[in-house]
Amino acid sequence: MKSIVHLTANIETVEKYLHSQSWLKTGEKITSTEVPGDGNMNFTLRVKTNRRSFILKQSREYVEKYPQVEAPVTRTLREAEFYGLVSGHSNLKSKMPKLLKVDEQNYVLFLEDLGEATDYTFLYEKGQILNDDELAEIITFAADLHTKLTRQDSKKNLPNRKMRELNHKHIFIYPFLEENGLDLDAVLPGLQKVAEPFKSDENLKGKIEKLGKRYLEEGNSLLHGDYFPGSWLKSTDGIRIIDPEFCFFGEPEFEIGVTIAHLNMANQPEEIVQKALRYYKERAPLDEKLRQQYTAVEIFRRILGLAQLPLTIPLQKRQELLNESFEVLTKADYSELPSAIYHHKNLSIYER
Ligand SMILES: Nc1ncnc2c1ncn2[C@@H]1O[C@H](COP(=O)(O)OP(=O)(O)OP(=O)(O)O)[C@@H](O)[C@H]1O
Ligand SMILES: [Mg+2]
Repeated sequence: MKSIVHLTANIETVEKYLHSQSWLKTGEKITSTEVPGDGNMNFTLRVKTNRRSFILKQSREYVEKYPQVEAPVTRTLREAEFYGLVSGHSNLKSKMPKLLKVDEQNYVLFLEDLGEATDYTFLYEKGQILNDDELAEIITFAADLHTKLTRQDSKKNLPNRKMRELNHKHIFIYPFLEENGLDLDAVLPGLQKVAEPFKSDENLKGKIEKLGKRYLEEGNSLLHGDYFPGSWLKSTDGIRIIDPEFCFFGEPEFEIGVTIAHLNMANQPEEIVQKALRYYKERAPLDEKLRQQYTAVEIFRRILGLAQLPLTIPLQKRQELLNESFEVLTKADYSELPSAIYHHKNLSIYER
């Protein structure tokens, strides 16, 4: 088996690699490389040449920032499949960087550089409010994605099983373990004590287990899979959506549930949250009860789980959000929800 090239920021290594792929133009020379922005999962690099600049993104068998943590090496290829599916829809495609090349052997994507863009994680800072146009763009992208790219219409399947299983552990399991290796008091003094009653509530855990099973089922809409401020970029040309490595065909309530959870944790005014829901429902159907459950579980996982965010809301606000989430989940009646399983006789669900 051919060994996998290990990309680094070293100009010679990158140039040699790009030559081996024939990805450089005649006379094109690398002038510099740099880290384009915050990222944990993958190796991402901005490459500047005497002609242009572009982004390389390589996935490895582990999480780039935490090499001791395993992760599916094929994840950039799933990301590439998402770009492929979206490429037939100009309004979606135009909101993402162009995927210019893919190296399937070495799990590398060659992406258009959106320039010095920052992601929207600044929304977690005090006093930052999403403006109306931005909100409309973010929600419209999701609604278009969910309605235009369905498994009924697309012959393709994209289970992204391994990434979904990884996400499942982080969302539905680790946050509720008594011992998950995370010292919550180091995140925010007092948080450990706040967490304890939730972690020992069997009713809550039962509900979460059920919701987790739903997340692992196949649904009908293409989801970005990680639709939160870290995947929205503020570029000079407006909002761009990046990083669909957790994509799959699932239920839109998961995606919108996650988005709303982040608007809540970023302390956005209730008016913004309601507007987001209104914008979505004007364009696509949404089961509100199910959406609320996914919002609740995302709030639990981000406040108590390993994938912490730069939240600035105080302990009391975190406690309030957890209490509300607890109410939603423990009162959930699954007999009221629509069936999650999507059946399609022409598509087999295969492992990828
Ligand atoms: N096409 C692009 N143009 C400009 N900047 C980009 C582009 N793609 C990524 N970036 C920058 O690099 C950062 C990391 O990229 P990305 O989120 O795709 O990587 P990741 O390793 O999957 O990150 P995460 O750990 O958050 O999942 C982004 O937040 C952004 O700042
Ligand atoms: Mg990512």
